[in-house]
Order: sequence, then structure tokens, then C-alpha cells
Amino acid sequence: MSGRMAGKVSFITGAGRGQGRAHAVLQAREGADIIAVDICENIDSTPYPMSNWDDLNETKNLVEKEGRRCVAVKADVRRRDELVSALDEGVAELGQLTTVVANAGILPLAMGDPQPMDFHDAVDIDLIGVMNTVAVAVPHLLQVGPRASIIITGSTAALIPNTTSSTEPRMIMGPGGAGYAWSKKTLVGYTHEMALHLAPSGIRVNIVHPTNCNTHLMNAQGIYQVFRPDLEGAVTKEDFRPASEAYHALPAPWLEPEDVAELVLFLASDGSKHMTGTSTPIDLGCMVKWPAGPGQ
Ligand SMILES: NC(=O)c1ccc[n+]([C@@H]2O[C@H](COP(=O)([O-])OP(=O)(O)OC[C@H]3O[C@@H](n4cnc5c(N)ncnc54)[C@H](O)[C@@H]3O)[C@@H](O)[C@H]2O)c1
Repeated sequence: MSGRMAGKVSFITGAGRGQGRAHAVLQAREGADIIAVDICENIDSTPYPMSNWDDLNETKNLVEKEGRRCVAVKADVRRRDELVSALDEGVAELGQLTTVVANAGILPLAMGDPQPMDFHDAVDIDLIGVMNTVAVAVPHLLQVGPRASIIITGSTAALIPNTTSSTEPRMIMGPGGAGYAWSKKTLVGYTHEMALHLAPSGIRVNIVHPTNCNTHLMNAQGIYQVFRPDLEGAVTKEDFRPASEAYHALPAPWLEPEDVAELVLFLASDGSKHMTGTSTPIDLGCMVKWPAGPGQ
């Protein structure tokens, strides 16, 4: 099947690499033009680097190789003014917006000296950044109604019970990890609310929950050490692999970004036109294996 995004314009945050880039490339392959934004700057509380301008430009190149157009803009999802400018520029060049993938996110697992305010850093991007993305896009989407689709990137951290500071034993330690999990959990309720309120206009809103996915966010010491608390010192990807595989029912250690992009493509396309307010794991069976949380 091809052309599932023909005539669509998709606004994708965190598009410099990882899942955001995979969404941009696959949706372009299926006929969409892309407005790609990324912060292109590092974030103090987050130990791994963010994308840079070269990464975002490479996403633009890859979209163009698929024969589609791409407007790539440096913008921070914490800044509504920057998102509005990016959208205005993209829509002026590419035409009516139909699709939003609110994907940008951080997992600030500070090693050694976590700070209480890391919680806020995570929330500012992982929750408020998503709400900003949706808020600036809705006025555009109201013009297309039933052809519009919003997809929010959640996480298995939204679904498993023991991921925030108030639950013991904690799956993800520290304020940054707790802020991440709390944000992702809150996004489920936010998706429900937005789906309900936008439904009369025909606009759909759905959330997806990937498990560990082979991107910079996963390939960081923070995640590796959460999964291998039994090891001293630096943990390697090979150390992480069996623990990550044990997190899943299906025999695989992690997803690739392209796996998530297939699900998001379906939710972006008219093939899912009767679906809104759904909350869908793409989790290699994590939730069927650990319904009460890992180790429970
Ligand atoms: N990788 C995983 O294991 C995993 C699992 C579940 C959910 N997720 C979620 O998937 C989404 C994509 O992450 P990824 O796995 O591709 O990681 P990634 O770190 O490779 O990509 C995240 C992108 O978001 C950008 N970004 C960060 N803060 C931003 C901001 N304030 N404004 C604009 N752009 C910003 C980064 O520069 C980067 O390009 C995130 O929402 C993440 O929480 C990831």
C-alpha cells in the first residue's frame, strides 16, 4: 500500500533524529510534506546530547529523497511563540496542516547528583511541550476537520504502575525519571480530554506507548543503569540487552524507531478515521508480562 498520506502536511516535533525522523521519512514516503522542528540545543539536566542543526537538516534531506518537501525549523516545544513561527512558516510553504506528531521528549536521568528541579525540566518538555504543540496546531486543524489527526508519543512508563517517586519499588529513580513518568501518565488523560473536545470537529487524538526504542534516549547510562542496578560502574549496551529483553514478553530487547513509525502512520492516515481517544502500547508484550509493573 502507498500514498496513505497523500495530500497531507505533518508537523513533527523532535524530528532531528530517532523516532521523530522515522515518522518524517515514513510519512513522506506515503505522500506527506513535513514541517520538522527540533530544539537543536543541549539541555543541562539531560546527560545525553540533543539533536543539532545538522541532524535536523539530515531529516530534511531524507524527506526530500522521498520526493516530498520539508520545512525544517529550530524550535523549542517549551516556547509557544517558536512553535507558532515554525507552523506559520511551514503552512505558508507547504499548505494546510492536517497532521501532528507531538513526539519531542527527554528523559533526564542525571547520574550522580540528581536535582529536585529535574522533575520540572522533564514536565516542561514531556507534558507542557506536548500541550503547546497541540495548542498551536488546533487552529490550523479546525480548518480540515475530519482529515486531521494528532498523535502523541507516550511511553510504557505511562502504563506501568511503579514508575513514579510515590510508588515502591521504583522502576525509574530520581526526580527526572519521575517527572518523565508523571508526564507520560498525565498525557493519557490529556489525550482523552482532547479527543472528547475535538471530536465534534472531526479531529482525532490518539496516544502511543513505545517500550525501549533504539535511540539516543535509550542508549544512555541513565536507562542502562536503571535496568542493571546489579552492576557497578559504566553499563554497556550488551549488559543492558538481556535485562531489556526480560522486560518484554516477545523475544526482543528493543524496538527500532521505524517500528513505532508504522503505528503512528496508521493513526495519522485515514485508515484509522474511526479511532480517537485510544491509548495503544507498542511494547513487545511488556504490559501482558508485567501488568503490575516490572518484577511484580
Ligand atoms: N527511546 C525510548 O526508549 C522511548 C521509549 C518510550 C517513549 N519514548 C518517547 O519517544 C519520543 C522520541 O524520543 P526518541 O526515542 O526518538 O529519543 P531521541 O532523544 O533520539 O529524540 C528526541 C528528540 O527530541 C528533541 N527535543 C528534546 N527536547 C526538545 C524540545 N524542548 N523542543 C524540541 N525538540 C526537543 C531532541 O533534540 C531529539 O531530536 C519521546 O517523547 C520519548 O519520551 C522513547
